[in-house]
Amino acid sequence: MKNRTVKVGRNDPCPCGSGLKYKKCCLGGSKSGSEDLTALYAKKYRIRLKQAEDIQGIREAGRLVIDTLDLVESEIKPGITTDEINTLVHDYTIKHGAIPAPLNYRGFPKSVCVSVNEVICHGIPGERVLKDGDIVNVDVTSILNGYYADANKTFFAGTPGSNARKIVQVAKKCLDLGKSMVKPGNTIGDIGWAIQTHAESKGCSVVREFVGHGVGFDFHEPPQVPHFGRRGEGIRLVPGMVFTIEPMINLGKKELVVLSDKWTAVTKDRSLSAQFEQTLVVTDHGCEILTPYET
Ligand code: MF3
Ligand code: CO
Ligand code: CO
Repeated sequence: MKNRTVKVGRNDPCPCGSGLKYKKCCLGGSKSGSEDLTALYAKKYRIRLKQAEDIQGIREAGRLVIDTLDLVESEIKPGITTDEINTLVHDYTIKHGAIPAPLNYRGFPKSVCVSVNEVICHGIPGERVLKDGDIVNVDVTSILNGYYADANKTFFAGTPGSNARKIVQVAKKCLDLGKSMVKPGNTIGDIGWAIQTHAESKGCSVVREFVGHGVGFDFHEPPQVPHFGRRGEGIRLVPGMVFTIEPMINLGKKELVVLSDKWTAVTKDRSLSAQFEQTLVVTDHGCEILTPYET
């Protein structure tokens, strides 16, 4: 892998987020007025910044993830089981020369997470039959040519009721507002702040136990990307950072319970929960979505 060097001026804010000028902070003994952000972010945060060829690899994996979600969307209807969704995702992924990342990941037994209604995330596909009005999140992560991309959507089976429509709309808007904060100079806290502010303004709540994450070379890399937080807090965003934003939004309270299968996370109050996830890369002036879909 080639090295990627991004220049930071002596008088620019230090990329470590201290608020100091770079020359007064992490620049150290360098006289050149620039530093290697790749080395800095690796050392300070264990974040592996991606270079152009890596981003292209993740983009291709992301295209496959989105094509897979489109296939699932065309098949979702009352009467199908969550295991049938697993088979669709597994077979399509393999057919396209990729590997479903969830399969055997830390003991996860299936190729995709399918989370219905009160299930927040990590639902294990099985015999559950979708009913009219269910909301169903399908979370696809594929490994193509060694690169990982991760995205999910919440679909309706049949005709949704007003609670289902509301939670899906709020979760979608949360992802959009989170993405709108992604540009160099903003921080990870800005993303969480935008999401939390919207969710709570609608009387909904943000799950704390699961967060977005770096992705690309591995399934879950640093940094963590909470969907709650304060403006200006946390790591400063720099070009080449690739991570997910994947807010889990509950119609009721934020608390969760993990079922005895050790995976399935459900809302403690059994209220509906919805989620949307995309993988993105920070660019020089904003971000590029590597798992593009319209919200
Ligand atoms: N795709 C999930 C995420 O967005 C992780 C699923 S881990 C699994 O991070 F093992 F349940 F697949
Ligand atoms: Co993810
Ligand atoms: Co995911």
